[in-house]
Amino acid sequence: MAKIGVFDSGYGGLTILSEIRRVLPEYDYLYLGDNARAPYGTHSFDVIYRYTLQAVEYLLSQDCALVILACNTASAKALRTIQQRDLPKINHQSRRVNVLGVIRPTVEAVPAISQTGHVGILATPATVSSESYVLELEKISEGLRETGDGLQVTQQACPMWVPLIEAGEHESDGAEFFVDKYLRELLGKDPEIDTLVLGCTHYPLLAAKISRQLSSISSRPIRIISQGSLVADSLKDYLQRHPEYRDQLSHGGSCRYLTTENADRFAQSASLFLDQSVCAAHIDL
Ligand code: DGL
Repeated sequence: MAKIGVFDSGYGGLTILSEIRRVLPEYDYLYLGDNARAPYGTHSFDVIYRYTLQAVEYLLSQDCALVILACNTASAKALRTIQQRDLPKINHQSRRVNVLGVIRPTVEAVPAISQTGHVGILATPATVSSESYVLELEKISEGLRETGDGLQVTQQACPMWVPLIEAGEHESDGAEFFVDKYLRELLGKDPEIDTLVLGCTHYPLLAAKISRQLSSISSRPIRIISQGSLVADSLKDYLQRHPEYRDQLSHGGSCRYLTTENADRFAQSASLFLDQSVCAAHIDL
């Protein structure tokens, strides 16, 4: 029987994994963090695609029927190519498998939340340069434009946030400085933003700081969308609609953790993200 694989460049995907396990506790999971090569967000398309494909191939080789790219950067830069170019070859050789991302389920929630139609995206430089959020939100606003409710999307790259979180420095004064800096830059570009997407799975670790800083920078209430529960609900819905994957999945309720870095170091930091202790194993990709 098969598992659900969850992949991120590092620890950020754990914020997605814990929501998925809350909504779908019955399945077996395999988490892979490519911590040795994180952050991905400052790499080029070729590198992000190559690293992500290696991780996906590894998870599929470990009996995962579905792989969730719990990483916006990998979803933005590698998902489409993997789905269109690589998966057809893999599916011809063996059982049915699929790879899903986190951007589409997030974007679908935006129109119902924003009152002004002014939306801010906080993400890694690679996700911002891919324009994936802008393009996906544009597709959604096509229909809304006819009713005069189109969306105005403004992006902000936050290159320092993932390195701070991966280094365990997200509670520090340094993190405070960089949260304030990027929020001010974003709201300087569009002060009417009322909805903010945390478009990187690491950023929920900074959510408390982000909302504190927002209330000191802006007088208008700003809603923060983080992705965990949206991705989890969307996966539940997907499995209901796709028995060809659902029926392959085993029901043990287990989760194993793999990292390309030192396993003890991963386990220690992952425990902070998950509020429980975990064991991890090292792998090379
Ligand atoms: N969690 C990844 C994301 O959602 C972080 C990317 C990185 O490694 O820079 O984009």
